[in-house]
Amino acid sequence: MRRTLKTIALLATIAGLVGCATAAADDPRQLVALPAPMTQHMLSNMRDHLLALTEIQRALGAGAYQRAADVAEQRIGLSSLEAHGAAHMAAFMPQPMQDIGTQMHRAASRFALVAQETGADGNVARAVTALSSVTEQCVACHTAYRAH
Ligand code: HEC
Repeated sequence: MRRTLKTIALLATIAGLVGCATAAADDPRQLVALPAPMTQHMLSNMRDHLLALTEIQRALGAGAYQRAADVAEQRIGLSSLEAHGAAHMAAFMPQPMQDIGTQMHRAASRFALVAQETGADGNVARAVTALSSVTEQCVACHTAYRAH
């Protein structure tokens, strides 16, 4: 009985591993192999990007346009490049991936300007549209590349 259970557990593990390998083989995205600590660093930046988007949306909803602008500029915009070690990481990325990253930083800085203008003219729709130009770049990169 114990042996049967062990065999079942082993077979399940093998099936899991094969499943993983198959998923990677079926995954059409290009693998970008960064040194392990850099992958961790990049993914940690990514999680902060998602948190920043949440804070931006919350600020927009509360009419706190300057706050939305500040979060976008400092955490995703051109001002965030140094904190993210972007230049160092870019060296490991294919050129088109770097370009998407640059587009994302630019779009976030553009959004920051629009959000500040929203503070003056109340045009929230324009700010929301500008924010979608940021998430568009998240989607573009995630569609094309994977890190593991
Ligand atoms: C230049 C490319 C690029 C851009 C731009 C980009 N990402 Fe990513 N992101 C990646 C890669 C590569 C991964 C790893 C995906 C994988 O291996 O499946 C990733 C993973 C993530 C993850 C998962 C993190 C984890 O802990 O596993 C989150 C969340 C994320 N990105 C959020 C975002 C958000 C939000 C944006 C836009 C504001 C964004 N990313 C823009 C390349 C990018």
